[in-house]
Amino acid sequence: MVVDSRKSCRYINVMNILLIGSGGREHSIARAITATSTYQKMYCAPGNPGSAQYCENVAISDSDISGLISFAKEKAIDLTIVGPEAPLALGIVDQFENEGLAIVGPCQAAAQMESSKAWAKAFMKEFNIPTASYEVFETYDSAVDYVTNTTFPTVIKADGLAAGKGVTVCFNLEEAIQTLKDMMQDKIFADAGSRVVIESFLKGEEASILAFTDGDTILPLESAQDHKPVFDGDKGPNTGGMGAYSPAPIVTPEVSQKVQKDILMPLLNGMKSRGIKLKGIVYAGLMIDNGEPSVVEFNMRFGDPETQVVLPRLKTNLLEVFNAIVDNRLNKINLEWHNFSAVCVVMASKGYPASSSKGDVISGVSSLDTSETQFVIQAGTKQDSAQLLTNGGRVLGVVGTGGSIEAAIQSSYQAVELIQFEGAHYRKDIGAKAVKVQ
Ligand code: AMP
Ligand code: GLY
Repeated sequence: MVVDSRKSCRYINVMNILLIGSGGREHSIARAITATSTYQKMYCAPGNPGSAQYCENVAISDSDISGLISFAKEKAIDLTIVGPEAPLALGIVDQFENEGLAIVGPCQAAAQMESSKAWAKAFMKEFNIPTASYEVFETYDSAVDYVTNTTFPTVIKADGLAAGKGVTVCFNLEEAIQTLKDMMQDKIFADAGSRVVIESFLKGEEASILAFTDGDTILPLESAQDHKPVFDGDKGPNTGGMGAYSPAPIVTPEVSQKVQKDILMPLLNGMKSRGIKLKGIVYAGLMIDNGEPSVVEFNMRFGDPETQVVLPRLKTNLLEVFNAIVDNRLNKINLEWHNFSAVCVVMASKGYPASSSKGDVISGVSSLDTSETQFVIQAGTKQDSAQLLTNGGRVLGVVGTGGSIEAAIQSSYQAVELIQFEGAHYRKDIGAKAVKVQ
């Protein structure tokens, strides 16, 4: 009999865990694992001062896959969880599995769903998943020709990974040509923008559905809504995400059923029919118009900042869920949820998203240490002896929970008031759409 070492050594309470990434999402995953599960030891590579509250941070980059494999072997890691897209696109899951190491995430073939928008659109078309119509362009001239004859608004997307900033909704020809110039000629996203997808504009309201899958079962999590543009009222350039709330009332039970039937199941079956084992976390970015969901994008990982509001609501033992994904027994898992609502307001550093500021002193975070309903999820931060400093664009996410979305909004903004750093900016309308819908 062949013993699968990935299964034999994972006794939940004594597991050694390695979490990969350094953002707010990873701080949130570490927090949720600790809140719902017991384990022996958790490491985070490379982590941030927030993940350090739960993990031993180790200075290995998330794309140093051979370094991560050596570390996992040295520390007898039982389970690795991948947060960000970059290592997934590099094939971290395939490489860990080849070494007999258990890991939660999609294989490189499945990760193309996020690492190439052209690949994702062709997949959705082939498997009849509702999405915007599109064309792919490899040259600047052909793309300019196309936009010259199209109607506006139109949406231009860099094909490759661009930290959530590779999409521009263009309202006129001038904007479209400038966007194509930025992406294809000035290469603001390097090679990621050499090829572009231009797609029709979808109207409606957005929501994000995350789901766990082992390739046979797909279990949706509670809904959330992100806020991509930097300014209030969805104005300004897109960012990695300026805030989120959960649940999103636009995702009614009817919409959820359609998402399962018309989007998640065809995704799973489409992957199967291409011979790709889909495992890990699926993220469907949706546009919902009159109760009809279409896919804006698929990611193959937890969303950031959606994770910050979805995982605090999870009651189920998260390590059990991850083990079930690896062992192909997700059909045995029943996800349970807390009833409260959660809102996360992202505080960004000066200049974000065009640039970011580093080294500004952050004050007030520890004043929330004892609160049950307000907490800070760290992202672009750095600990310098006793001081917490800014260290990136999205600095931190301030989460407030409450019995209703209104209460959670109030709670999160009250907490935001306690935190200060030079140049801090944040949206004042996170959650406002949910209040309108109710
Ligand atoms: P993506 O990175 O593909 O999720 O796109 C970033 C954001 O751009 C989305 O969250 C939407 O707000 C917007 N967007 C992308 N594609 C479309 C589309 N076809 N129609 C309308 N808005 C879109
Ligand atoms: N919230 C957007 C993303 O995680 O891609």
